[in-house]
Amino acid sequence: MENRRSLIAGNWKMFKTSSDAIDTVKEIVRRLKQVIDIDIMIAPPFISISSVAYIAGQSNIAIGAQNLFWEKEGAYTGEISAPMLLSVGCRYVIIGHSERRQYFGETDETVNKKMRAAINYDLTPILCIGESEKERESKDTFSVLDKQVKKGLKGFSKENLKKLVLAYEPIWAIGTGKTATSNQAQEVHRFLRLLLEKNFGNMLAESTRIIYGGSVKPDNINELMAMDDVDGALVGGASLSAETFCKIVNFKR
Ligand code: PGA
Repeated sequence: MENRRSLIAGNWKMFKTSSDAIDTVKEIVRRLKQVIDIDIMIAPPFISISSVAYIAGQSNIAIGAQNLFWEKEGAYTGEISAPMLLSVGCRYVIIGHSERRQYFGETDETVNKKMRAAINYDLTPILCIGESEKERESKDTFSVLDKQVKKGLKGFSKENLKKLVLAYEPIWAIGTGKTATSNQAQEVHRFLRLLLEKNFGNMLAESTRIIYGGSVKPDNINELMAMDDVDGALVGGASLSAETFCKIVNFKR
Protein backbone atom coordinates (compact mmCIF):
# COMPACT_ATOMS: atom_id res chain seq x y z
CA MET A 1 0.00 0.00 0.00
CA GLU A 2 1.45 3.28 1.06
CA ASN A 3 5.23 3.61 1.44
CA ARG A 4 5.49 6.92 3.18
CA ARG A 5 8.32 7.12 5.68
CA SER A 6 7.00 7.89 9.15
CA LEU A 7 8.08 11.11 10.84
CA ILE A 8 8.13 11.69 14.58
CA ALA A 9 8.81 15.36 15.30
CA GLY A 10 9.36 17.02 18.66
CA ASN A 11 8.40 20.65 19.17
CA TRP A 12 10.08 22.00 22.28
CA LYS A 13 8.20 25.31 22.07
CA MET A 14 9.55 27.87 24.59
CA PHE A 15 11.06 25.28 26.90
CA LYS A 16 14.66 24.46 27.84
CA THR A 17 17.67 26.70 28.30
CA SER A 18 20.57 26.07 25.97
CA SER A 19 22.28 23.67 28.38
CA ASP A 20 19.03 21.75 29.02
CA ALA A 21 18.55 21.47 25.27
CA ILE A 22 22.08 20.11 24.84
CA ASP A 23 21.59 17.54 27.61
CA THR A 24 18.28 16.35 26.18
CA VAL A 25 19.49 16.00 22.61
CA LYS A 26 22.58 14.08 23.74
CA GLU A 27 20.30 11.63 25.49
CA ILE A 28 17.98 11.34 22.50
CA VAL A 29 20.87 10.71 20.10
CA ARG A 30 22.23 8.04 22.42
CA ARG A 31 18.91 6.26 22.88
CA LEU A 32 17.81 6.34 19.25
CA LYS A 33 21.05 5.36 17.53
CA GLN A 34 19.57 2.16 16.15
CA VAL A 35 16.43 3.66 14.68
CA ILE A 36 16.86 3.89 10.92
CA ASP A 37 13.42 3.07 9.57
CA ILE A 38 11.73 6.41 10.31
CA ASP A 39 12.55 10.12 10.26
CA ILE A 40 13.07 11.89 13.57
CA MET A 41 13.12 15.64 14.05
CA ILE A 42 13.56 17.99 17.00
CA ALA A 43 12.67 21.69 16.92
CA PRO A 44 14.40 23.48 19.82
CA PRO A 45 14.09 27.22 20.54
CA PHE A 46 16.07 29.34 18.04
CA ILE A 47 18.97 30.06 20.37
CA SER A 48 19.71 26.36 20.83
CA ILE A 49 19.41 25.26 17.22
CA SER A 50 23.07 25.70 16.45
CA SER A 51 24.40 23.69 19.41
CA VAL A 52 21.71 21.03 19.19
CA ALA A 53 22.35 20.59 15.45
CA TYR A 54 26.07 20.31 16.15
CA ILE A 55 25.47 17.50 18.64
CA ALA A 56 22.97 15.74 16.40
CA GLY A 57 25.66 16.00 13.69
CA GLN A 58 25.47 13.12 11.26
CA SER A 59 23.07 11.17 13.48
CA ASN A 60 19.56 10.14 12.50
CA ILE A 61 18.10 13.14 14.36
CA ALA A 62 17.25 16.08 12.08
CA ILE A 63 16.82 19.59 13.42
CA GLY A 64 14.00 21.99 12.71
CA ALA A 65 12.92 25.50 13.60
CA GLN A 66 9.58 26.43 15.13
CA ASN A 67 9.10 29.44 12.87
CA LEU A 68 10.85 31.64 10.32
CA PHE A 69 10.42 35.01 8.64
CA TRP A 70 9.89 35.16 4.89
CA GLU A 71 12.48 37.79 3.95
CA LYS A 72 16.06 36.73 3.32
CA GLU A 73 17.55 39.55 5.41
CA GLY A 74 16.81 43.13 6.38
CA ALA A 75 15.78 45.46 9.15
CA TYR A 76 13.33 43.07 10.84
CA THR A 77 14.25 43.16 14.50
CA GLY A 78 13.85 39.85 16.22
CA GLU A 79 13.24 37.76 13.12
CA ILE A 80 15.15 34.78 11.67
CA SER A 81 15.35 33.91 7.96
CA ALA A 82 15.50 30.67 6.02
CA PRO A 83 19.18 31.06 4.97
CA MET A 84 20.08 31.67 8.61
CA LEU A 85 18.36 28.46 9.61
CA LEU A 86 20.15 26.55 6.86
CA SER A 87 23.49 27.97 7.98
CA VAL A 88 23.16 26.32 11.42
CA GLY A 89 22.10 22.92 10.16
CA CYS A 90 18.33 23.21 10.20
CA ARG A 91 16.47 21.07 7.69
CA TYR A 92 12.85 21.41 8.77
CA VAL A 93 10.65 24.32 9.74
CA ILE A 94 7.27 24.29 11.48
CA ILE A 95 4.94 26.83 9.88
CA GLY A 96 1.61 28.19 11.11
CA HIS A 97 1.49 26.43 14.46
CA SER A 98 -1.83 27.28 16.13
CA GLU A 99 0.01 29.05 18.96
CA ARG A 100 1.56 31.38 16.41
CA ARG A 101 -1.80 31.97 14.77
CA GLN A 102 -3.44 32.52 18.16
CA TYR A 103 -0.88 34.66 19.99
CA PHE A 104 1.31 36.21 17.29
CA GLY A 105 -1.19 37.23 14.66
CA GLU A 106 -0.25 34.73 11.96
CA THR A 107 -2.81 34.38 9.20
CA ASP A 108 -3.18 32.08 6.22
CA GLU A 109 -1.56 34.84 4.17
CA THR A 110 1.57 35.13 6.32
CA VAL A 111 1.68 31.34 6.54
CA ASN A 112 1.69 31.25 2.74
CA LYS A 113 4.66 33.67 2.59
CA LYS A 114 6.56 31.56 5.11
CA MET A 115 5.83 28.45 3.07
CA ARG A 116 7.27 30.23 0.03
CA ALA A 117 10.48 31.06 1.93
CA ALA A 118 10.86 27.49 3.21
CA ILE A 119 10.35 26.03 -0.26
CA ASN A 120 12.70 28.50 -1.94
CA TYR A 121 15.47 27.47 0.44
CA ASP A 122 14.66 23.79 0.31
CA LEU A 123 13.71 23.46 3.97
CA THR A 124 11.11 20.80 4.70
CA PRO A 125 7.98 22.70 5.74
CA ILE A 126 5.64 21.24 8.35
CA LEU A 127 2.44 23.15 7.73
CA CYS A 128 0.17 23.09 10.79
CA ILE A 129 -3.57 23.26 10.45
CA GLY A 130 -6.41 22.49 12.81
CA GLU A 131 -9.84 23.51 14.02
CA SER A 132 -10.89 24.96 17.37
CA GLU A 133 -13.29 23.23 19.71
CA LYS A 134 -16.06 25.62 18.72
CA GLU A 135 -15.47 24.95 15.03
CA ARG A 136 -15.61 21.21 15.62
CA GLU A 137 -18.81 21.52 17.62
CA SER A 138 -20.46 23.55 14.90
CA LYS A 139 -19.35 20.96 12.33
CA ASP A 140 -17.02 23.36 10.53
CA THR A 141 -13.91 21.19 10.85
CA PHE A 142 -13.65 20.28 7.17
CA SER A 143 -14.41 23.77 5.86
CA VAL A 144 -11.84 25.31 8.22
CA LEU A 145 -9.17 22.82 7.13
CA ASP A 146 -10.06 23.24 3.48
CA LYS A 147 -9.51 26.98 3.76
CA GLN A 148 -6.25 26.65 5.74
CA VAL A 149 -4.80 24.20 3.23
CA LYS A 150 -5.90 26.10 0.12
CA LYS A 151 -4.70 29.47 1.38
CA GLY A 152 -1.52 28.10 2.93
CA LEU A 153 -0.58 26.35 -0.30
CA LYS A 154 -1.85 29.01 -2.68
CA GLY A 155 0.36 29.57 -5.71
CA PHE A 156 2.43 26.40 -5.36
CA SER A 157 2.82 23.67 -7.94
CA LYS A 158 3.05 20.02 -7.05
CA GLU A 159 6.79 20.20 -7.80
CA ASN A 160 7.12 22.88 -5.11
CA LEU A 161 5.41 20.65 -2.57
CA LYS A 162 7.50 17.50 -2.85
CA LYS A 163 8.82 17.90 0.70
CA LEU A 164 5.58 19.14 2.25
CA VAL A 165 4.51 17.66 5.57
CA LEU A 166 1.00 18.49 6.78
CA ALA A 167 0.42 18.45 10.53
CA TYR A 168 -3.18 18.09 11.61
CA GLU A 169 -3.35 19.58 15.08
CA PRO A 170 -6.86 20.07 16.45
CA ILE A 171 -6.48 23.10 18.73
CA TRP A 172 -8.68 21.51 21.39
CA ALA A 173 -6.18 18.65 21.70
CA ILE A 174 -2.97 20.69 22.06
CA GLY A 175 -1.54 20.61 25.55
CA THR A 176 -4.93 19.66 26.96
CA GLY A 177 -4.51 15.94 27.43
CA LYS A 178 -7.53 15.46 25.12
CA THR A 179 -6.31 13.52 22.09
CA ALA A 180 -8.41 13.05 19.02
CA THR A 181 -9.34 9.39 18.88
CA SER A 182 -7.45 7.47 16.26
CA ASN A 183 -10.66 7.28 14.22
CA GLN A 184 -11.17 11.03 14.41
CA ALA A 185 -7.57 11.55 13.29
CA GLN A 186 -7.94 9.04 10.46
CA GLU A 187 -11.15 10.67 9.24
CA VAL A 188 -9.48 14.08 9.01
CA HIS A 189 -6.22 12.77 7.53
CA ARG A 190 -8.22 10.97 4.83
CA PHE A 191 -10.07 14.17 4.09
CA LEU A 192 -6.75 16.06 3.82
CA ARG A 193 -5.27 13.47 1.48
CA LEU A 194 -8.29 13.70 -0.80
CA LEU A 195 -8.00 17.48 -0.70
CA LEU A 196 -4.36 17.23 -1.80
CA GLU A 197 -5.39 14.84 -4.54
CA LYS A 198 -8.06 17.21 -5.80
CA ASN A 199 -5.66 20.15 -5.89
CA PHE A 200 -2.30 18.59 -6.74
CA GLY A 201 -3.00 15.13 -8.09
CA ASN A 202 -2.77 11.59 -6.86
CA MET A 203 1.03 11.28 -6.78
CA LEU A 204 1.53 14.18 -4.40
CA ALA A 205 -1.42 13.13 -2.24
CA GLU A 206 -0.01 9.64 -1.87
CA SER A 207 3.53 10.74 -1.11
CA THR A 208 2.77 13.59 1.31
CA ARG A 209 3.18 12.80 4.96
CA ILE A 210 0.24 13.86 7.11
CA ILE A 211 1.17 13.77 10.76
CA TYR A 212 -1.01 14.22 13.84
CA GLY A 213 -0.36 16.51 16.78
CA GLY A 214 -2.20 17.14 20.02
CA SER A 215 -1.43 15.37 23.31
CA VAL A 216 0.47 12.53 21.65
CA LYS A 217 1.92 10.27 24.35
CA PRO A 218 3.60 6.87 24.56
CA ASP A 219 0.24 5.35 25.45
CA ASN A 220 -1.71 6.63 22.43
CA ILE A 221 0.94 6.60 19.69
CA ASN A 222 0.43 2.97 18.70
CA GLU A 223 -3.23 3.31 17.86
CA LEU A 224 -2.66 6.57 16.03
CA MET A 225 0.17 5.11 13.95
CA ALA A 226 -1.95 2.07 13.11
CA MET A 227 -4.24 4.30 11.03
CA ASP A 228 -3.71 4.20 7.25
CA ASP A 229 -3.39 7.93 6.77
CA VAL A 230 -1.50 8.86 9.93
CA ASP A 231 2.16 9.11 8.91
CA GLY A 232 3.67 10.38 12.09
CA ALA A 233 3.29 12.76 15.00
CA LEU A 234 4.17 16.29 16.03
CA VAL A 235 4.80 16.01 19.73
CA GLY A 236 4.87 18.96 22.14
CA GLY A 237 4.86 18.28 25.88
CA ALA A 238 5.89 14.64 25.59
CA SER A 239 8.97 15.54 23.51
CA LEU A 240 10.58 17.46 26.38
CA SER A 241 11.75 14.32 28.14
CA ALA A 242 14.20 12.17 26.21
CA GLU A 243 12.72 9.05 27.74
CA THR A 244 9.14 9.80 26.74
CA PHE A 245 10.06 11.09 23.30
CA CYS A 246 12.09 7.96 22.58
CA LYS A 247 9.20 5.76 23.67
CA ILE A 248 7.04 7.55 21.10
CA VAL A 249 9.69 7.10 18.39
CA ASN A 250 9.74 3.40 19.27
CA PHE A 251 6.02 2.98 18.57
CA LYS A 252 4.90 -0.49 17.58
CA ARG A 253 5.66 -1.38 13.95
P1 PGA B 1 1.21 18.77 22.77
O1 PGA B 1 1.56 19.84 21.63
O2 PGA B 1 1.80 17.46 22.34
O3 PGA B 1 1.81 19.32 24.01
O4 PGA B 1 -0.30 18.70 22.83
C1 PGA B 1 1.54 19.49 20.28
C2 PGA B 1 1.92 20.66 19.42
O5 PGA B 1 1.58 21.80 19.77
O6 PGA B 1 2.60 20.49 18.39
